[in-house]
Parts: sequence; structure tokens; C-alpha cells
Amino acid sequence: RPPNSQTEESCVLKRADCRAKGGPPGFKVAILGAAGGIGQPLAMLMKMNPLVSVLHLYDVVNTPGVTADIGHMDTGAVVRGFLGQPQLENALTGMDLVIIPAGVPRKPGMTRDDLFNINAGIVRTLCEGIAKCCPNAIVNLISNPVNSTVPIAAEVFKKAGTYDPKRLLGVTMLDVVRANTFVAEVLGLHPKEVDVPVVGGHAGVTILPLLSQVKPPSSFTPEETEYLTKRIQDGGTEVVQAKAGAGSATLSMAYAAVKFADACLRGLRGDAGVVECAFVASEVTELPFFATKVRLGRRGAEEVYQLGPLNEYERVGLERAKKELAESIQKGVSFIRK
Ligand code: NAD
Ligand code: LMR
Repeated sequence: RPPNSQTEESCVLKRADCRAKGGPPGFKVAILGAAGGIGQPLAMLMKMNPLVSVLHLYDVVNTPGVTADIGHMDTGAVVRGFLGQPQLENALTGMDLVIIPAGVPRKPGMTRDDLFNINAGIVRTLCEGIAKCCPNAIVNLISNPVNSTVPIAAEVFKKAGTYDPKRLLGVTMLDVVRANTFVAEVLGLHPKEVDVPVVGGHAGVTILPLLSQVKPPSSFTPEETEYLTKRIQDGGTEVVQAKAGAGSATLSMAYAAVKFADACLRGLRGDAGVVECAFVASEVTELPFFATKVRLGRRGAEEVYQLGPLNEYERVGLERAKKELAESIQKGVSFIRK
């Protein structure tokens, strides 16, 4: 039996050859925090994605086991594991897409902002690695508080001289996934038939579902609007409370992260009309970052869409969201600049 490394390299070479001959492209994807509650199912689902040719799994614990396990799946991607800070650079070199679910999750009674003190430093270190080893990669940032970790990442990249706002995306897909689910329940439709734009940010009142723009066009009573908006805003807390100290959403998040990563990869491949919501650098409001629909292309978030017409309920929600978002963004920026 040839040593593993030879097998791996020949797989990669065969895929590169296939790509050169006009076959399906394969992208190189790294997951940072791959042994965690989100990281493991996310790694499994990315191993099943035909757009992925190489999958790097990095964490500070347990990656050998997760890598051995996922590596036995008979799908195309070559899987490699990386353990601990000394292996971060090898994990990142050559990557097209880096997905970051590294960091601590909430327990009941905590806000996402309570995670700032630990997760800010983790995100800084990982982004310094990205700036050094794969500055052109698309970054999907999941670690909370997203409203602050995305500005932190932007500042790290600015400091390193590698910042491209199009390539840095805060993942708010779980809010959209929840919104589609809850709105479909109320409308009596299959969730796949429903599209709810969710804008703003990813915490409490900064999560702003635009029910007036739901597809298919639908009307909601004031009670339904209040119920749906609150349920979508509190979706994360609902899971944190149900897990009762054992963490926050992991499985639905892995599903949402893969849905979003797949959209990014289709954009990178050059597919037309790939549009999803994400928290990105934005001129849609006076804030430097804001979540709206974006068009994903070869360079990342190539187009950031405007909010569209809002009703009075949404206009009030927008002002409340912007107030909290401004503070969270500033907190992230100051963490690096101070
Ligand atoms: P978890 O504790 O189960 O897993 C986190 C993983 O990160 C662990 O395996 C840990 O070893 C690893 N890690 C810690 N420090 C690291 C470092 N310096 N480098 C690499 N890896 C490191 O937590 P989880 O449930 O997977 O959640 C992870 C994060 O995602 C949390 O911050 C959580 O709040 C956030 N989250 C975000 C969303 C969203 O919608 N954006 C949804 C759910 C969870
Ligand atoms: C979520 O929305 O589920 C995540 O942000 C995790 C959390 O802390 O709620």
C-alpha cells in the first residue's frame, strides 16, 4: 500500500488534471474550529460537496480523530488535519475559502457580546494567519459576536495590507434559514418555496427580517408580524435554552454554513445570479458593515443590494438595529486599533 501522502498527492494531481481538461473545478476549503459542535457536521457536509477538492480541518484539539473519521467517506475531497497553532500556516496555505466557526458558544443567560473577550482574540490570531498564508481567500466568519468579529477581521486585514472588503463575509445564513422555516409554518408552505430577506446584523434586535419582502408575496397580521420577528430574532436563544448549558445551535448552523459556503463556491466558479444575505462592508446605511442580500461572484460579494422599500414596523426596527450595531462594530474596531 502506498503511504498516505502519495495517495493524497496523486488524488490532488488527478483532480488538477481534470480541472485543466475543463472538468469540474475543485476548490480548496479550510475549516478553522473543525473539531467543534459546528465544525464536525460542517466538515462532514463539506466533504460531501462536489465543488470541494481539498478540505483542511484545523483546530487546537481533536483534529486527528475528526480527520480520520471524515477521511473515510467515499466522496471526492481529499481531507487533511492540522492540530494547534504551529500547524495553522500549513492549514491555510493555498486555500480558496476559509470558514471560521472557532470560539466559545453561549450558555443560558449570556448574550453573544458576552463571548467577545474570548472570541475576539481567537478571530484576530486566525485572521493574521489568513493575511499571511491565503490573503486572496474568501472568508466566511461564523464566530460570535459576528457584529464585532467581522470588524475585527477587517482591521486585522487592513493592518496587514491585504483587506478586500468583498472577500470578508459574516455568516447570517442561519437567520435566513430560521426565517424561511418559521414563515413557511405560518403560511402553510414548504420552506423551500419561501424566501425571507433578513438584514442588519446577527444578534437580537439587529436581526431584522423584512416580512414585507417575503417571496411569494404575502401579508401578515400585526400579531403574526410581531410573533415572527421576535421568534427569528430569538432563534439562537431558543436553542441555547433548550440545550440548557450544552452550547448553542450546531446542526442547523452547519447546514446554514454549508448552504452559504456552497453559494460562495458557485460564485467563485463564475455561476450567474448567486444571491444570499451576509454581513459585509456596506454603504447601504451610514454604518460601515451591514447585512443585506449580496451577489456572490469570482471576487466574493461583488454587489451589495439596497434594502428596498420598508414598512413602518421595519423602519422602526431598522433604527433600533442600527443603534446596537454601531456600538458592536465600534467595539470590534477598537479591539484592534487600541
Ligand atoms: P464549540 O465549543 O463546540 O466549538 C468551537 C471549536 O473552536 C472547538 O473545537 C475549539 O477547540 C475550537 N477553537 C477554540 N479556540 C480555537 C483557536 N484558537 N483556533 C482554532 N480553533 C479553536 O462551539 P460551536 O458550538 O461550534 O460554536 C462556535 C462559534 O460559532 C461560537 O462562537 C458560536 O457562538 C458561533 N455561532 C455562530 C452562529 C452564526 O449564526 N453565525 C451560529 C451558531 C454558533
Ligand atoms: C445562533 O444564532 O444560533 C448563534 O448565533 C448562536 C447563539 O449564541 O445564539
